[in-house]
Amino acid sequence: APWIAKVLTLYPEMFPGPLGHSLAGRGMVNNLWQLEAVQIRDFATDKHRTVDDSPFGGGAGMVMRPDVLDAALEATLSAGLAPLVMTPRGRMLNQDRVRDLAAGPGVVVLCGRFEGIDQRVIEARGLEEVSIGDYVLSGGETAALTLIDACVRLIPGVMGSEATLDEESFEEGLLEYPHFTRPADWNGRPVPDILLSGHHERIRAWRLAEARRITADRRPDLWARYCTRHGAGSH
Ligand code: ADE
Repeated sequence: APWIAKVLTLYPEMFPGPLGHSLAGRGMVNNLWQLEAVQIRDFATDKHRTVDDSPFGGGAGMVMRPDVLDAALEATLSAGLAPLVMTPRGRMLNQDRVRDLAAGPGVVVLCGRFEGIDQRVIEARGLEEVSIGDYVLSGGETAALTLIDACVRLIPGVMGSEATLDEESFEEGLLEYPHFTRPADWNGRPVPDILLSGHHERIRAWRLAEARRITADRRPDLWARYCTRHGAGSH
């Protein structure tokens, strides 16, 4: 069965957007995954199709109404699909969570707009709040596209060669080693000799050492986790 992404949004025309192109787009055409964008406004009940209102307690901006969102979720949630809401307050997305989501049947992603979403519908529907990083977007749509992209590329058959996935440093908890291609000398900058040597085992060792060096230098948080997982002093 194809992996399913259902997105609840006030801007369904933003989907599939970039995910209709390249390998993700090919995967969709080949029915390896499916995307459904649901217009939240279709579940409003008044003649003006209102989806938001001013916040109780006062303050700037508008809040998405729980009754409208609940009706949209009722029509969209289905057994097994992970119910998510994109918000900068959420748990930070990482490759471990992406791997879990990609391994399941799919996701239902609610995209917030305005100042926020009525807290009661988040709790009543058990939505998991997910952030893609410590910065504020104008809405959840680009965050949802990012989450879905990260999942879809892990679906078997979506990426060209299966090997490129698990050889990736990030799957090991490291940042990627540096890459080089022809010309071997470019503007007086040579490619590291080892990469031209044909010694595949030494090249693997060099790349791993580079990935470790770069991770330790740039991301002490990732480096600490990597060292814990791989056993201190065992390398
Ligand atoms: N909506 C607005 N900013 C966001 C973020 N950083 N992550 C997820 N959803 C968002």
